[in-house]
Amino acid sequence: MLVADGVDLFYGPSQAVRGASLVLRRGETAAITGPSGSGKSSLLYCLAGVLPVVAGEVRFEGSSLGDLGDEELSALRRSRFGFVFQYGELLPELTVEENAALPLRLAGQRKPAALAAAGEVLGRLGLADLRTRRPSQVSGGQSQRVAVARALVHRPAVVFADEPTGSLDSANATAVLEEFLTLARSQGTAVVLVTHDADVAAKADTRYTMVDGVLTAQGRGQR
Ligand SMILES: Nc1ncnc2c1ncn2[C@@H]1O[C@H](COP(=O)(O)OP(=O)(O)OP(=O)(O)O)[C@@H](O)[C@H]1O
Ligand SMILES: [Mg+2]
Repeated sequence: MLVADGVDLFYGPSQAVRGASLVLRRGETAAITGPSGSGKSSLLYCLAGVLPVVAGEVRFEGSSLGDLGDEELSALRRSRFGFVFQYGELLPELTVEENAALPLRLAGQRKPAALAAAGEVLGRLGLADLRTRRPSQVSGGQSQRVAVARALVHRPAVVFADEPTGSLDSANATAVLEEFLTLARSQGTAVVLVTHDADVAAKADTRYTMVDGVLTAQGRGQR
């Protein structure tokens, strides 16, 4: 469904991604680990069509992202992709349920239906009681779960997650990551997860390591 084939990315003269190839099948989870500065985030930006690749190709459902215009690409990102970032990055002026409903609202869904769908995903993450709070009124782990709910609420084909629990202690981080992978699997959403957590990486369907811009497949996980 998502295929990277020999992707190169440069920042000016310096090369951040060197000939990266990856295959993500429908509903599958892939984990990427590797040292700081090795190019993991850069690769994620290429896969998600946020940064254009210089050589090689990223294909999603058969079309090359490089062939899409800016508007097509943003529409694709909005409707078919979801994102979770290191610090969650919720909008402080919106409630928990409004944050989680955002992708549906951006897709034009009416507020009551969007909030109902958000409420269901929040419930599955144990956050039903926090729906009307602001992000400043919930804990770090809870706000990461809200970010997970927001990434999954529109049932995207792929969620790109870049150290989504970077701000949490390790026990809490592992719990949130496991809930995230379980929920994504249950709705058939594929995940590309950058993580330092080796235990969580082992639970992914496929594992990759990145060193100095070079992505290497490590084979299948425990599942
Ligand atoms: N916008 C940019 N302009 C120039 N160089 C950049 C830019 N973003 C990243 N780099 C460089 O590209 C390389 C890869 O960075 P990247 O952020 O992809 O690494 P990473 O594996 O995600 O690291 P970390 O684990 O610390 O998040 C690094 O050497 C970094 O300094
Ligand atoms: Mg990074």
